[in-house]
Amino acid sequence: MFCYTKVKNDLYFIGGSDRRLALFENVYPIPNGISYNSYFLDDEKTVVIDTVDKSVSKVFFENITKLLNKRPLDYLVINHMEPDHAATIGELINRYPDVTIVCNQKTSAMLKQYFDFETEPKINCVKENDTLSFGTHTFTFIMAPMVHWPEVMVSYDCNDKVLFSADAFGTFGAINGNIFADELNFDSTSLAEARRYYSNIVGKYGVQVQSLLSKAASLEIDMICPLHGPVWRENIDYYIEKYKKWSCYEPEENAVVIAYASVYGNTENAADIVACRLALKGVHNIKMFDVSVTHPSYIISEVFRASHIVIASTTYNNGIFVNMENLINDLTAHNIQNRTVGIIENGSWAPVCGKQIREKLSVCKNINILEKQITFKSSLKEEMSTSLDEFADALMENLG
Ligand code: FEO
Repeated sequence: MFCYTKVKNDLYFIGGSDRRLALFENVYPIPNGISYNSYFLDDEKTVVIDTVDKSVSKVFFENITKLLNKRPLDYLVINHMEPDHAATIGELINRYPDVTIVCNQKTSAMLKQYFDFETEPKINCVKENDTLSFGTHTFTFIMAPMVHWPEVMVSYDCNDKVLFSADAFGTFGAINGNIFADELNFDSTSLAEARRYYSNIVGKYGVQVQSLLSKAASLEIDMICPLHGPVWRENIDYYIEKYKKWSCYEPEENAVVIAYASVYGNTENAADIVACRLALKGVHNIKMFDVSVTHPSYIISEVFRASHIVIASTTYNNGIFVNMENLINDLTAHNIQNRTVGIIENGSWAPVCGKQIREKLSVCKNINILEKQITFKSSLKEEMSTSLDEFADALMENLG
């Protein structure tokens, strides 16, 4: 049966949530599920704004049928073509062949890559700042390339001041009845997953996110309707400020993340000792992750939050331990910047991974890799205690 929620006046949420999917994009664990948001505008013309993943297509079409109440569907606005939002476009056009698709040139090309249409769909191609009236509502279209794909645009309802923000301002996590962020105690229930979503999905594209933020700054925004997670109608500046920070790769907190790769526990021992020395010196905000236990998306997210990173790895096959190498590749792919990094390396006969970690991270902008490095063979000995202390001191120098 249909299950839609009124969002504002004549605007409805018509998407759904998947709590069965293990890996979003076949990469990211989503223990709290994921929502695929779509919206219906009940104006003089009827408008669907983005579609949904096929996992929630049943309720999506039931919602449209109910809200249309036997009227035709006039418009489909496509802000983003990734199949988590676009998979049901083909079926939508089959059901409503007279619908006019509102999209940009790049989307129009992608439509034909993903779908085989028996008859050419009606397409109204829009460009930056074009407007379109649906009756009492007029939309403006703003291009947002690479937030998160090249064809992405956002749509702004000039009358109700609603921004349909595509992937921007999304979060991992199903919608559990409460559709608005202000109903959630967002900071404690959802911020970590919002950060993990941002850092892993669009974290690489900070410059493009900043470009979108600067365009959005000229708009009066009363509501943000993203394609994943809750709708924002209060305290919008809080979330925009987070996006400003994340997109500039500015740490949110003076904090230490220790990521370690340990085969027999000796590198873990070094990481533990450094954590304890930091704690003894008064550092309160320390998180530790075994890279073979914690999915890298969680560590990437924590690195976006924290100012300082300790990377402790054993040498493996004359290189960096495989799961640590994966994390470091991911960090560089996500364009991490403006961090202080301390390196600990282990190796029973040739500890070489520290140098390789240093080289890999050197491609990142404004990364301060401490000269002071801990190198040991097999296991730590008591005579290294002073060196560990100095390492902790060096980390703390600009920790604040
Ligand atoms: Fe949620 Fe880039 O798709």
